[in-house]
Amino acid sequence: MDKFEAFEQFEAYQFDDNSREARRNRPGPKKKKDRRTQKIVHDIQEMDDGIENWVPSYAKALDPRHHERQWVIESVGPFYRDQMVTDVTRLVKGGKEANVYACTAHPATGLDLLAAKLYRPRMLRHLKNDAIYKAGRTLRDAEGKQLKGRREKLAMRKKTSFGKEVDIQWWIGNEYRTQTQLFEAGANVPKPIGHQGNTILMQYIGNEFGPAPTLSEVRLPQAEATALFERIMQNVALMLDNHLVHGDLSAYNILYWEGDICLIDFPQMVEARHNPHAYELLERDITRVCDYFASLGLERNPVALTRDLWDPYMGPGG
Ligand SMILES: Nc1ncnc2c1ncn2[C@@H]1O[C@H](COP(=O)(O)OP(=O)(O)O)[C@@H](O)[C@H]1O
Ligand SMILES: [Mg+2]
Repeated sequence: MDKFEAFEQFEAYQFDDNSREARRNRPGPKKKKDRRTQKIVHDIQEMDDGIENWVPSYAKALDPRHHERQWVIESVGPFYRDQMVTDVTRLVKGGKEANVYACTAHPATGLDLLAAKLYRPRMLRHLKNDAIYKAGRTLRDAEGKQLKGRREKLAMRKKTSFGKEVDIQWWIGNEYRTQTQLFEAGANVPKPIGHQGNTILMQYIGNEFGPAPTLSEVRLPQAEATALFERIMQNVALMLDNHLVHGDLSAYNILYWEGDICLIDFPQMVEARHNPHAYELLERDITRVCDYFASLGLERNPVALTRDLWDPYMGPGG
């Protein structure tokens, strides 16, 4: 019985055909029912405590007054309750938009380690700068349902608190759906596991000693450079095949692990067919990748590569 079922049961019992008044005046069944009420109330409290008293190892090391402690517990708590995560063990990286934490996976997920990406509330401030990425995108809610209502659109435009709520849910839901679509298409991206509120849960790339480094953090063996570059371009092509452009691809958003690459960080993803900046963004993505590999002695022409990749999928004249 989960918490909601318990609540339902409690409600059904409390508000059944007998009013409180009627029960109080009835001698026999009163005691029995009261015990049942107590038991259900107790069960619900137990379940509540299950989350409220959950203090993952990483949070234990923090001062109880430290805001990060509560933030981690509240953000990852729903995944703990849903039996996806059993512990949060370390901060992988803290950025200006999000913190990524390493988690111990619940066996039900079939994985050992998970990465939880927690968006900061502060990120809302940066959202107004995202017009370039939003252009051509349809407004969608967290579940991917198209938002048609005047109220939603007006709220988004005005940045009311309701608008911000729609915005952040849209943003995170969108990142999750895109990652799922790419994973299912066979791209090298961490397997997405779930999303709740401000958090995305996914496969962790790395091991118990530490996360996979980004390309910017390693010096690739020269012998691997060509093959890895091709691998990245195959992934860029696969994205285009799904009518997507990463939009923020660089050596900072590509992990290097066990001789292969893994692309991460998708909130800036754009729809190639609808976004008027898609071609420019693709060229920028490819240029950044080429710049990184140029330092390893690999000479590639990003302008020609962009055109050659774009044309077969999108038709000439991007
Ligand atoms: N699935 C993952 N496994 C291991 N490390 C990750 C994973 N996702 C992100 N990271 C680490 O966290 C950092 C930040 O994640 P990223 O998605 O790029 O967010 P942002 O750049 O917006 O802060 C990455 O540079 C990488 O080092
Ligand atoms: Mg990043």
